[in-house]
Amino acid sequence: MKEQESKYVLEAEELHKSFYQPAEVSILRGVSLKVHRGETVAIMGASGEGKSTLLHVLGTLEPPCKGKLTIAGQHVTAFNRSVLRRNNIGFVFQSFHLMEDYTVLDNVLMPARIARANIRKGSVSYARAIDMLERVGLGERLDFNTKLLSGGEKQRVSLARALCNDPDLILADEPSGNLDHSNSQRIHELLISVAHDENRGVIIVTHDQELADLCDTRYQLRGGLLQPEACSATQH
Ligand SMILES: Nc1ncnc2c1ncn2[C@@H]1O[C@H](COP(=O)(O)OP(=O)(O)OP(=O)(O)O)[C@@H](O)[C@H]1O
Ligand SMILES: [Mg+2]
Repeated sequence: MKEQESKYVLEAEELHKSFYQPAEVSILRGVSLKVHRGETVAIMGASGEGKSTLLHVLGTLEPPCKGKLTIAGQHVTAFNRSVLRRNNIGFVFQSFHLMEDYTVLDNVLMPARIARANIRKGSVSYARAIDMLERVGLGERLDFNTKLLSGGEKQRVSLARALCNDPDLILADEPSGNLDHSNSQRIHELLISVAHDENRGVIIVTHDQELADLCDTRYQLRGGLLQPEACSATQH
């Protein structure tokens, strides 16, 4: 169930994150970020700066050491974070995290299955899963075992899965990292249209300047902080 409609899909205040094993590394040192409905945000930065870690923290997969996180108007706590994640967040992981022994369609339907939605043929979830797979160019691969797919195809399944439950917030970690130019463009258009047409918030970690330039807002993660980037077209 979606709760109250907040203007922001994500509000992060002064997030800190360090790891302590095998040695102490301080990754996030006070990250603040607001993403409103319909906004696309690009996060860029050098390898190892902490972009994936930041997405994991924003996506409630890793708790911050310090700071406050609000998703779709609700403050995230240890008690509600898995429910908030399930109901509000779609994640495209850098390393896909697909279930290789399941079919493409089963993978895409998994978030709906976990949310106990009806996923039978003819259901809303089933229709949306098929639509998403067609939009990422995999309409001919529905019944393929996922392990038979190429790296770029797996990445596209991972994106279709992230969008299947119609989440308020989509977090995508290098979603076009393994794709050729035409498939990258298709993925970029899909992400931007989900934000603008369906009024969702989208955060994309990318090294692709072309994709970053399509986003409404751009940041560099550097030294554990998000620094706004001047943009060529529109300023927000
Ligand atoms: N669980 C962990 N324990 C200890 N260190 C970690 C852990 N996870 C990540 N790190 C370290 O945190 C740093 C940031 O990692 P992260 O994966 O967030 O970088 P990134 O910016 O996404 O890099 P890339 O562009 O290569 O994907 C790295 O130096 C990494 O070794
Ligand atoms: Mg990464």
